[in-house]
This record gives sequence, structure tokens and C-alpha cells, in this order.
Amino acid sequence: MIEKINLLLAEINAFRATSAEQLEEFRIKMLSKKGIIASLFQEFKDIDPSQRKALGEKLNQLKTLANEKVSKLKQEIEDALASSHDPGGMPDLTMPADFSEPGARHPISITRNRINGIFEKIGFVISEGPEIEDDWHNFSALNFPEEHPARDMQDTFFIEKNPDIALRTHTSSVQVRVMEQQKPPIRTISPGRVYRHEAISARAHCIFHQVEGLYIDKDVSFADMKQTLLYFAREMFGEQTKIRLRPSFFPFTEPSAEMDVSCNICGGPGCPICKYSGWIEVLGCGMVDPNVLENCGIDSKIYTGYAFGMGIERIAMNIFQIKDIRMFFENDIRFLKQFTAAI
Ligand code: DAH
Repeated sequence: MIEKINLLLAEINAFRATSAEQLEEFRIKMLSKKGIIASLFQEFKDIDPSQRKALGEKLNQLKTLANEKVSKLKQEIEDALASSHDPGGMPDLTMPADFSEPGARHPISITRNRINGIFEKIGFVISEGPEIEDDWHNFSALNFPEEHPARDMQDTFFIEKNPDIALRTHTSSVQVRVMEQQKPPIRTISPGRVYRHEAISARAHCIFHQVEGLYIDKDVSFADMKQTLLYFAREMFGEQTKIRLRPSFFPFTEPSAEMDVSCNICGGPGCPICKYSGWIEVLGCGMVDPNVLENCGIDSKIYTGYAFGMGIERIAMNIFQIKDIRMFFENDIRFLKQFTAAI
């Protein structure tokens, strides 16, 4: 019997339980009425009186050890459960908080929000249109001739088997939708994603973002446009910024221009960012062509207006000094993390 008790003492000492079920099984095996220890006490009754004292002590020692082990393990299992954030249990308010890293806005969103904010301050309202467009809104209403190269498969993603439906190539399509639905005065900007069938490189992508602006009222002049764009350039690139307008051509504006801003890195003398010209091209603009007004049901004898359109990536690349447009679309956490401080 003494050997049996010694073996059991060793077993109890070595026992480990990770769940309440395991522990209960152990308790029943050792300490229940029909358990091992109870049966040893039964055997003890028939023991030779000369061995009784020593064996009795040993048996009591075994029972105490088993009881202590069960209550110690019970406490351990309860503690482990409490600290394991068991959603069923009470939360432990003294636990240190989980550290979660702050997220960052995407640099395209940061730039778009800044552009929106600058124009909203002077009364422009935001309008949006669909990314899948018909020929009328993307081209025809905007005065694109039938044979214009932008209508070519080389430049535009058409929906298969329907040459009338394409992914919009510019946000100028939203101008048309707004003019069809609203009466002047109209003062709106339209941010959104656009698509072009272009080879992807460090400077070009088949998906990018634009913000379109439109202002229609009586007596709107080219000078009004210039003043608004100068205000925008100063707000966006800094107080010292100068602008210059170069004559250009767009089917939907006449006259048309492209606007450059003075390089905010070198301030004029030339650097690698402005390719040593001192100027950075930021947008296209012009007076809305009377044909476009008429196409959208606005009387071009009463109303005039200006429009402009800019690429968000190009501006973001400039203000954040990003050298490769592909970075915007790769979702690389090491890139995105760098914008936590910007809003
Ligand atoms: N839609 C032109 C483009 O994608 C940008 C543009 C130029 C928009 C002149 C305008 C504008 O509204 O007047 O390149």
C-alpha cells in the first residue's frame, strides 16, 4: 500500500490541467466517494495495527495534497479565463489598453479634400457623376468632333460590344450632367476617378483622379476665372505662388488655356522637380464653349461661364514629392503610413 500511495503522490504533484473539465475529471478520480483515495481509506481498515500509524499519516498527507492541488489549479484556471478577454465575462478595467496604430488618409484623399475645401470656401458645391458614362456626356455634349482621337479605342475603355458606353475619360462629363439638371447660376466642383487606355509608367496610369470646376452665370469673364484660379493656387501651394496661363485647346472651352504655377520647391530659378523651368503645369481651363451651353439647354446669349479640370495625382505628387504615380495604387503600408500626420 505504501508504494501505491507514493506513486499517487508523484502523480498528483505532476498533474497539470488547462481546463475546468480536465480538473473535474481529476477531482472525481482522486477525491470523490468512489475515488482512489476513498478506496485506500477502505483498505486501511484491514491494515495490520503495527503499520497503522505510519500509513495513516501517509494517507492523510495524500488526501491533503490532492485537495490543495485541486483548489490551486481551480484558481489558476479562473485567473486565466478572466484575463483572456472572454466576451461572456466581465471586462477587466484594470488591464492595459490594446495599442492600435493610428491609420492614415490616402494621399489622394488628403489632396482631394484640400482642393474641395479651397473651393467650398468661395461657394462652390460638390457634385458627382457616374464612372460608367455614355458617349453624350463624355464626348458629344462637350463638343468633341466625331473623329476626335480621344474617342479612339487607344485612349478610351469602351464597354465591349457597345461603343456608346465607356469608362469616363475625364470628370468634364459631370459638367454636362449638372448643366442639364440645374439652372444658372451654377458653381460646382466635381471630384472623381477617371480611366484612360494608357501604358502604366512612373508618370501615367490607366486610373487616376480629377477635379472639375464649373461656373456659369450672367457676365462671367476670363478675368473672373483667372482670379479664382490665382486664389486656388495660393491656397494650395502657398502665398508666394504665381500663375501663368498658356494658350491651349480643348473642344469644350473657347478660348482655352493651361495653367502653370511657380515651382514651390525652388521658387523660380529651376530645379529637378520643375525640370529647370521654374513652372509646374497643374490644370486646363477656359470659357465654356457656347455649343456646350446650348447642348445642355442653357441660353448662350444670356449666360457665359468658365471651367477647369486638374489631375489630383499630379498635384499630390508635387506637394508630397512623390516620384512614381504607381505608388498611389499599390496599397503598400510603408508608403501609406507616411501620411499619418497629414490631414
Ligand atoms: N477634361 C480635361 C482633361 O481631362 C481637363 C479640362 C481642361 C477640364 C479644360 C476643363 C477645362 O473643364 O476647361 O484633360
